[in-house]
Amino acid sequence: KTGLITLDPGFGNTGACTSAITFIDGEKGILRYRGIPIEQLAENSSFTETAWLLIHGRLPQRQELDLFREQLNRHAPLHEAFKHHFEGFLVDAPPMAMLSAMINTLSCFPRRWNTATPAGPDEEFYEEAARLISKVRTIAAYSYRRSMGLPFIYPDPKLPYVANFLHMMFSMPYEQHMASPEVVEALNLILLLHADHEQNCSTSTVRVVGSSQANLFASCAAAVGALWGPLHGGANVAVLEMLSKIHHGGISADQAIKLAKDPKSGFRLMGFGHRVYKNFDPRAIILKRSADRVLSQLGVNDPLLDVARQLEEKALTDPYFVERKLYPNVDFYSGIIMRAIGIPLNMFTVIFAIGRMPGWIAQWAEQHADPKARIARPRQVYIGNTISDYVPIDDRR
Ligand code: SDX
Repeated sequence: KTGLITLDPGFGNTGACTSAITFIDGEKGILRYRGIPIEQLAENSSFTETAWLLIHGRLPQRQELDLFREQLNRHAPLHEAFKHHFEGFLVDAPPMAMLSAMINTLSCFPRRWNTATPAGPDEEFYEEAARLISKVRTIAAYSYRRSMGLPFIYPDPKLPYVANFLHMMFSMPYEQHMASPEVVEALNLILLLHADHEQNCSTSTVRVVGSSQANLFASCAAAVGALWGPLHGGANVAVLEMLSKIHHGGISADQAIKLAKDPKSGFRLMGFGHRVYKNFDPRAIILKRSADRVLSQLGVNDPLLDVARQLEEKALTDPYFVERKLYPNVDFYSGIIMRAIGIPLNMFTVIFAIGRMPGWIAQWAEQHADPKARIARPRQVYIGNTISDYVPIDDRR
């Protein structure tokens, strides 16, 4: 079929592109970042190292990783003017709306990469990438604090990436939140597993917006909007809402499965199914193990996890799901872990965005770096009215 479409770094008018960043084999449940299997990265790497890998195309040397960590620390604080921007939002404004707006606002601090489109990533671009990866965490924490009516907590330059985020989220004034190693490890894993995923809806949005040579921040701000939808990144919230509705609504797992199979019920088994994985989502396998580990380490006995396990068990043997190759995806377990480690529900998809940021940046840069990349211009098949004449308003029937 590739004879019918021209593959190029941008989408051109085909909706398909070439990329060297992430490889997925949906039939075999394979996911690799820059050629490295996700299972090995989950076992041995960290979110910050994996972010560097995605953006630079190889694993960092020790001094390169140290420099990156120093950049992330240096860029953690937000310009004080951002506080006034946050104050413009109503207290119950959705954190995803604030996240998208604030990422766009970062482009108001002029940098060469906001205007010109240099031939390819250079030192200033990598500094911008570190700035965005670092500040998205601060913006997220401030969005949460704003939604809770709590004072902002400044980043602590002594803390590593995830611990600093948890500090900004949960420390009260004058007392630091010291997250347990299990919580930091679980959140590190969630961010790492979400770091990139080929041409998913939000990453395609980064490429489409970036294909007009829009700047990095505008492109990633648009991606936040795409990720927000319950069929995409918003699914982790929808999974918890579904489990809670089943548990508190007195619906049995069997009844839930029955509803999910009836298209007229409007009830979907959120966290199940995937456009590409027609076997298992390797991230779900890793997260399922992490969910078991974290909940036992923290001594959390979550009835919603019991509901999740019952649904999974029943769906994996039900012909409707088996025929349609509907298996648990990354969102099915990530929500349960985030709930167990105390992340508030309205921040679940924000966490997904923090994790996906390195992938969005790497994909944006890959397209920007190729002079042959063209503006996205998908084609259509017109099915509207045939030609007709204008009718003056008084003559219309
Ligand atoms: C993510 O693309 C990515 O890589 C995304 C992601 C990433 O890392 O970026 O992996 C992250 O978004 C994971 C997906 C999270 N979304 C959900 O969990 C929402 C629930 N899942 C579905 O809505 C659905 O499975 C999608 C959106 C994930 C995939 O949709 P598709 O490929 O368009 O599949 P479809 O809607 O065409 O469904 C095919 C059939 C239909 O039945 P029939 O018309 O054949 O009778 O399967 C049914 C659907 O009704 N179906 C489901 C179902 N998902 C599909 N039925 C019940 N429950 C479900 N969850």
